[in-house]
Amino acid sequence: MTKVCMTKDIGVHGNLFGGIMLSWIDEAAVAMSNRICKTPNMVTRKMTEILFERPVKVGYSINIYGKPVTMGNTSLALNIEARRYNVYTEQEDVVCKTTIVFVRIDEDGNKIPIAGEVKRRFDEGKLG
Ligand SMILES: CC(C)(COP(=O)(O)OP(=O)(O)OC[C@H]1O[C@@H](n2cnc3c(N)ncnc32)[C@H](O)[C@@H]1OP(=O)(O)O)[C@@H](O)C(=O)NCCC(=O)NCCS
Repeated sequence: MTKVCMTKDIGVHGNLFGGIMLSWIDEAAVAMSNRICKTPNMVTRKMTEILFERPVKVGYSINIYGKPVTMGNTSLALNIEARRYNVYTEQEDVVCKTTIVFVRIDEDGNKIPIAGEVKRRFDEGKLG
């Protein structure tokens, strides 16, 4: 997913507000999680420590990348990396990274197993 940092996204110090970045990361990651698990019902269970390594200013593009790492009975963990992108040089610099765990839920909000076919293909290395 790619976002552009706009003036509405800036905090009091002229940098992208951290909470906005977290929501972008969560949005990009849940979309990937839903795609991999073939359901729109994945919820965020855990986000690991996140360090903001470089500032993001108005006009910067942010590219968010994801990679699945583990899949359990009901959960999927993704490594997520956000990089700021310089349109002039095409250089990317890591802004922050984290690992997010998503859990599949039913219509009542209870955890349920990821579909057997999805899990089988993941375990065979054919997903992601
Ligand atoms: C998601 C939810 C239904 C899980 O219900 P639960 O009965 O507590 O189930 P658990 O969290 O114990 O287990 C579910 C999965 O999460 C995994 N999990 C739980 N805590 C974890 C942790 N700290 N690290 C890694 N994985 C974890 C479990 O291993 C399990 O995965 P598995 O079945 O693949 O082995 C419930 O916690 C919930 O509704 N949370 C709120 C979700 C939400 O609203 N998110 C939006 C952000 S506020």
